[in-house]
Amino acid sequence: MSVDWLEIEKKAKAWTYEAASLVKKSLANPIHIESKSNPNDLVTEVDKAIESFFYHKIQGEFPEHFFLGEEGTAEDLDSLNGTVWIIDPIDGTMNFVHQKYNFAISVGVYHEGKGMIGLVYDVMNDELFHAIRGHGAYINNEELVPVKERPLNESIIGLNAKWLVEEKNPYKNPLKALVRDVRSIRSYGSAALEIAYVAADRLDGYISVRLSPWDYAAGIVLLEEVGCKASTFHGESLDFLTPSSVIVGKPQLHKEMVSTYVGEEL
Ligand code: IPD
Ligand code: CA
Ligand code: CA
Ligand code: CA
Repeated sequence: MSVDWLEIEKKAKAWTYEAASLVKKSLANPIHIESKSNPNDLVTEVDKAIESFFYHKIQGEFPEHFFLGEEGTAEDLDSLNGTVWIIDPIDGTMNFVHQKYNFAISVGVYHEGKGMIGLVYDVMNDELFHAIRGHGAYINNEELVPVKERPLNESIIGLNAKWLVEEKNPYKNPLKALVRDVRSIRSYGSAALEIAYVAADRLDGYISVRLSPWDYAAGIVLLEEVGCKASTFHGESLDFLTPSSVIVGKPQLHKEMVSTYVGEEL
């Protein structure tokens, strides 16, 4: 039986807008903040509530689908068999807490390991980046055009400057050389949004030493629709079950960044 991805996307969009309005409402009250792996790794009750909101919607509508979310709402997954929703309820929790701005809801739907639907919603700017495999990528109702290359020295790359701090990063030297050679660097604090910005030609590339599948699952679907590339620093395909380094960009730029700057084992 063929799957109606348009119908599934419609539901995913409706839930995303509903989740966003819950997030916005939560901003009116004090937010309870906890730290996870370290004092800067924040989580709030809103992150957990939004993940649980999606989990229950998906369970209700598609009980045969699987779920992978940052806050651990569901069972651990060890394969991408079947249909898997990969969700970051709030990507950019630090921005959510500190700025109440620049955070996104990220929803990726994968089928037998392939990205079928990608939604990245910038809640405060009301910008929904969305794509269904083979049907193009959009911001709200505007279709994104296939990307045009720029040379590396005219490119703007998304990168968190924390990755230049030596003890945090085994790839320190190549990243410094890349920062030196590109036109400029931007850091928005939401990997999902930054990947969406590459698809939308607001950035030429984006790099992170370590991300988890929920940070990039939706964004990768957008990227593929506009002809961009994504891989680990060593040029391997991304894994949607375990964390890894991530480098995305326009095809030539991606190739150059991997081969000249980050691909070498140090
Ligand atoms: C984080 C954001 C941030 C990136 C971190 C992620 P979270 O996600 O995407 O931009 O640099 O690596 O963990 O924790 O806010 O969902
Ligand atoms: Ca987090
Ligand atoms: Ca995230
Ligand atoms: Ca998150």
